[in-house]
Amino acid sequence: NQPSARLLSGFSIPLVGLGTWKSAKGEVGAAVATALRQGYRHIDCARIYQNEHEVGEALAAVLSEGVVRREEVFITSKLWNTDHEPSRVEAACRRTMEDLRVSYLDLYLMHWPVSGNSGPEVVPALEDTWAAMEALVRGTRGLVRTIGVSNFSIVKLERLLKKARIVPAVVQAHPYWRNDALRRWAADRGIHLTAYSPLGSPDSAAITKRDEATVRSPLKDEVVAQAAQALGKSPAQVLIRWAVQRGTSVLPKSVQPGRIRSNLDVFDWEIPADLYDKLCSLEYQHRMVDGGFFISPQGPYRTLQDLWDEHP
Ligand code: A2P
Repeated sequence: NQPSARLLSGFSIPLVGLGTWKSAKGEVGAAVATALRQGYRHIDCARIYQNEHEVGEALAAVLSEGVVRREEVFITSKLWNTDHEPSRVEAACRRTMEDLRVSYLDLYLMHWPVSGNSGPEVVPALEDTWAAMEALVRGTRGLVRTIGVSNFSIVKLERLLKKARIVPAVVQAHPYWRNDALRRWAADRGIHLTAYSPLGSPDSAAITKRDEATVRSPLKDEVVAQAAQALGKSPAQVLIRWAVQRGTSVLPKSVQPGRIRSNLDVFDWEIPADLYDKLCSLEYQHRMVDGGFFISPQGPYRTLQDLWDEHP
């Protein structure tokens, strides 16, 4: 039984989930099947990853083998920007569920606070999209057990919470980009955080193409290497364990069986306090996945500052 955290919705989220962002078609299905056979009980998906159909095939195959039951697996997916219109939300969710071959989702996230429109405000308003997501949880429909958001700043979360009837239970964050303020904010409210790109997503085109020379990889960090050596673990295991010790769930992506297995092996050892503290105070910080592709002079996000609401 994998350790898990309790969400405000009352459901539990297993702490290590398999990431499927960037997992190629033809590879992702095998990765999901391997992960479930190795003991993963949490798979992180999204419509925009364009591989949900193959994830669904693998999931169905493993479920039919009896390796695991549907209720034992936590499946997340995400509403894409082009489906924010309240009248489109349920259909988008159902399409994802059809691809994933599930009768309910454990978690459905608004992927970005972005709908792709130009103009001064996000249209439809994020609150309206959220209300449509709430309707997926309520009543007889019950398509979704828990809803949440991803890539939201504290300012945007607070704005949403003024209107939201169901509290967003999961907010994704980048662990190498520690996001300390957001973590504190969430902890104060009992809101669970999930860390994505825990290895710094070295395979992300958005990261490798831009600033190749300046963006450093946490997998190659010196303190991480020091901890790995001291503990007899791999750098990836140190990064994943660090996220778990920090109280977040975490979504390492891999399509390689050996890595899939070792990335889950983070529960029967721990990073000692001195090394943990060092890892929590690395000076180098860089928001790897910065959403720069959503910045437009026509708005609503003209600058990264508009998107993340942070003072530079
Ligand atoms: P691969 O899928 O070939 O294993 P993130 O989870 O931060 O998005 O990072 C995913 C990237 O890290 C992928 O390129 C993945 O490659 C690689 N990766 C996953 N697990 C490990 C590991 N244990 N050691 C080194 N690299 C890894």
